[in-house]
Amino acid sequence: MKRGALPRASAFAPGSVGNVAIGFDILGFAIEGLGDRVTVTRRAAPGVEISAIRGVAGELPREPRANTAGRALLAMQEALSPGFGFSVEIDKGIPLGSGLGGSAASAVAAVVAANALLSEPCAPIELLKFALAGEATASGDRHVDNVAPSLFGGLVLTVGIDHPRVKQIPIPAGVRAIIVHPHMFLSTKQARALLKGSVELSDFVWQTANLAGFISGCYTNDLDMIRASFEDVVIEKQRQALIPGFSDVRRDALDAGALGCSISGAGPALFSWAQAAHTDDVLAAMRAPFEKLAIGIDAWVVDIDSPGARVVA
Ligand code: HSE
Repeated sequence: MKRGALPRASAFAPGSVGNVAIGFDILGFAIEGLGDRVTVTRRAAPGVEISAIRGVAGELPREPRANTAGRALLAMQEALSPGFGFSVEIDKGIPLGSGLGGSAASAVAAVVAANALLSEPCAPIELLKFALAGEATASGDRHVDNVAPSLFGGLVLTVGIDHPRVKQIPIPAGVRAIIVHPHMFLSTKQARALLKGSVELSDFVWQTANLAGFISGCYTNDLDMIRASFEDVVIEKQRQALIPGFSDVRRDALDAGALGCSISGAGPALFSWAQAAHTDDVLAAMRAPFEKLAIGIDAWVVDIDSPGARVVA
């Protein structure tokens, strides 16, 4: 059977760190090794049926329109009318409400798996649009900063929503990410609802400079520029009270040599970037405040330049 018309396929899609401090809703990077797996099987009846949800999911809706993977696949069906339906099994590896891009990963893995069932597979940029419809189910908005890195891998800037343009940004050699997930649940929808609808002009100028400085620092291998611009002056201050210990973690991570430290997506997970020589110290610095508060954590130290979603079976 030719590739692209399989009866059944499984895909893995990585979690992701959204915003990366200075790129609210437009910048994100994939998390190597952590992700969701979705298996899609062709069925005669059109439409989407979710037949199983396993893993670290807790309670996830089985109704396809209310489920990120289901909603992404419905968008695909509506656009393509493939003449058959999808039966879907979801294996969650990313905890719900962690800020690690779990809703995006399920949506991305679903469309990548379903794409392998089509006789004329879609280009990745089309898959991004379907996955985005799924992401909106969870967060209430079509923000691209988790879906795009989960699909493409690495550090990704996305410009536009209806007609997205995706750019993979180079990562300076030897820079790694340290990610800490405190064991608590934070709803992305709620963490978005508390944000003010307007930005002070001075904050706008500062944030714009930081985003431009950060991106140019990545392209030119300029770690001083990355360090100087790795600061979110708009969103972080509105959300940090939701995460116990945040200011201690950030201060101690920077003292331990991190280039920057901020909230992963809507939180509660936090992340830093650091040169390989500092990652152990930064991880210890990020861990200690949570230990003091008796909050359990999971932690990862990962390459930022990692692969995106792929068919695995
Ligand atoms: N950009 C989104 C937010 C990411 O910060 O709300 C959510 O994972």
